[in-house]
Amino acid sequence: MADFFNTFWHWYVAIITVLSILGCGILLWSQSTYRVKLGADGKPEKTTGHVWDEDLTELNTPMPRWWIVLFWLTIAFGFAYLALYPGLGSYAGRLGWNSTGEYKAELKQAKADYGPLFAKYATQDLKAVAADPQAHAIGERLFLTYCAQCHGSDARGSKGFPNLADRDWLHGGEPSVIKQTIMHGRVGAMPPMGAALGSDKDIESVAHYVRNLSGLTADPIKVAFGKPKFAACVACHGVEGKGNPLLGAPNLADKTWLYGGSQETVMETIRKGRTNTMPAFGEFLGEEKVHVLAAYVWSLSNEPTVMAQAK
Ligand code: HEC
Ligand code: HEC
Repeated sequence: MADFFNTFWHWYVAIITVLSILGCGILLWSQSTYRVKLGADGKPEKTTGHVWDEDLTELNTPMPRWWIVLFWLTIAFGFAYLALYPGLGSYAGRLGWNSTGEYKAELKQAKADYGPLFAKYATQDLKAVAADPQAHAIGERLFLTYCAQCHGSDARGSKGFPNLADRDWLHGGEPSVIKQTIMHGRVGAMPPMGAALGSDKDIESVAHYVRNLSGLTADPIKVAFGKPKFAACVACHGVEGKGNPLLGAPNLADKTWLYGGSQETVMETIRKGRTNTMPAFGEFLGEEKVHVLAAYVWSLSNEPTVMAQAK
């Protein structure tokens, strides 16, 4: 066994284990052969004569027999256990049990239990899977295990991690696109635009223009000044700032923000750019699980009635 560097530690552990159990046995034996003290009159004495705290006396009664038998049984159990299971140094036990084997058996069982279910869903349309309550429950569990640490257990995301429960999408909200996102991952890359825009004043004006797009308070003069500068952004964000899902460029004209819509945050985004990565899960989870997950994510922002019609 690789747990020990050499046989010394195997023997060290094994001998200490056996000696401890034998020690318990000797203690037990010495106590069970203890006889009740007899007094001068030939009758058992009531107390051992030990007194504490003025009036606490130790009664002269041995442990009951059933109790002692119970102790012997635990010792026998200990030896039987050590013979059958790993526990004595590197001795593997007669049953050959180990936690890796147990894990593999559980995994095999899970595959046998859920494999056909996943295979069934894999042949169904994503919207049909989304309408299946059992698939929904499985999808939710998968989401909580693999996605919640970034997107939140309610899928509502946080700064830099998109909300998956709204109808606002960076890369697109069609079921097949969501599946694509989960399978292969996504990179959202907004280049630093500070240098291209020039002075801090220009960055400030463009930020006013961006805030104005979604109806946030902005200085009209700066908005007018920033409008022509926004030409540097339209290749990705579109002429009206409505974004482009093919590039993962967000809609700047709605009230949903990935990083935040305050003047400072928008300026920081423009100056330094943003790079964001959604990891690929295709290889790790396999397409069948991703299929169920994609249906689950889609259902978070689509009404159940739509799902029912989608069959
Ligand atoms: C390590 C963090 C992380 C984990 C784990 C993660 N994601 Fe993401 N995900 C992101 C980030 C960051 C983005 C945004 C990428 C971008 O800005 O373009 C994203 C984007 C997405 C999108 C696209 C959203 C849109 O608006 O187009 C979907 C769908 C998605 N994730 C689903 C999932 C699912 C399902 C899981 C679990 C299997 C998951 N994510 C796990 C970080 C993560
Ligand atoms: C090469 C394409 C590209 C160009 C050019 C570009 N952007 Fe972006 N922008 C993106 C992408 C992609 C994201 C999303 C980054 C992410 O997913 O983390 C983004 C994100 C943003 C955000 C954050 C939005 C939010 O919800 O928090 C703002 C604001 C923004 N861009 C403004 C601008 C402005 C203003 C310009 C022009 C000066 C500009 N962008 C130019 C691609 C671009």
